[in-house]
Amino acid sequence: MDITKRPRRLRSDGVRPLVSETALSPSDLIAPVFVDATADERVPIESMPGHERVPVEGIAERVREVRETGVEAVMLFGIPEEKDERGTRAWADNGVVQRALRRISEETDAYVITDLCFCEYTSHGHCGILTSEAREGWEELRSSDGIEEGAEEDPHMTVDNDATLELIERTALSQAEAGADMIAPSGMMDGMVATIRDTLDREGFTEVPIMSYAVKYESAFYGPFRDAADGAPSFGDRRHYQMDPANRREAIREARLDAEQGADALMVKPALPYLDIVRDVRETTDLPVAAYNVSGEYAMLHAAAGKGWLDLEAVAAESLLSIKRAGADLILTYFAESVAETLSADHRT
Ligand code: PBG
Repeated sequence: MDITKRPRRLRSDGVRPLVSETALSPSDLIAPVFVDATADERVPIESMPGHERVPVEGIAERVREVRETGVEAVMLFGIPEEKDERGTRAWADNGVVQRALRRISEETDAYVITDLCFCEYTSHGHCGILTSEAREGWEELRSSDGIEEGAEEDPHMTVDNDATLELIERTALSQAEAGADMIAPSGMMDGMVATIRDTLDREGFTEVPIMSYAVKYESAFYGPFRDAADGAPSFGDRRHYQMDPANRREAIREARLDAEQGADALMVKPALPYLDIVRDVRETTDLPVAAYNVSGEYAMLHAAAGKGWLDLEAVAAESLLSIKRAGADLILTYFAESVAETLSADHRT
């Protein structure tokens, strides 16, 4: 046989790194952290091994731990002391995220991105203000405590888009005032990016970038996060505002719209089941593309590794590499710290 073309020649130990097409570095990673106004001490999150809800007093310490692994940026999620129908604590000057932001910026040099959404702050768990029909439906549900009958009548168009924009505006401003370095709206309201850009610019925060959760699917992979942040909807689901997993062209439309509205970076979420979409968005925009390797993706690998079926360190690194290969520049991941540690250890050998 005459085999002149032998790809295996480039796979020897010496040459492999030279021809490697994709590299993962700790500086690509963003670690999500949870600050909890109701906690006096760290509370482990059962479905996300290694992650905890941290009290405000301990948040700077938590962020320092992240930084020691080589990861420089965190995404901050808050669990408020109380919830109400409008999610008031999301924009309170002494809200949990605002207090945490002040501490982190006083005590660390971390780059802090804030998730901007209302599902952790509203008593109904939806990502904004309910429409009056939805509110009636919800009240009926609560008074009849008959989940079965009521739940079927999932009130159409649960969240009032335009009324929610006003709260997004207040929350973005309050996060910027408390020291957020970047704002990441995740509620999938139409017009959210334009609204935030307008507000920030008007109030003098022209240098604060917006990373939009532009392409966010209505995904069952968020399950563990909703337990962690206590943000599951108490009725209905998020289909009226999050995207249908069946849709691909719509992702491109969402990405374009957010870019036009002034987003500085675009996110696709979840990551692994949507790598085709990461690639599509990469090819649609010249903005940085982020991908969110979500809680369910993390929990799944941990569960299999716990059974001894997978090598956790290896599958975590391979997953993140594949997200980069698909076209993401930044990756939000619960594996940030452990993978960054592995990467730095590899580097030293
Ligand atoms: C909304 C938000 C969610 C996640 C990040 N931001 C939950 C949701 O949309 O239900 C999920 C992240 C994950 O699963 O890791 N505030």
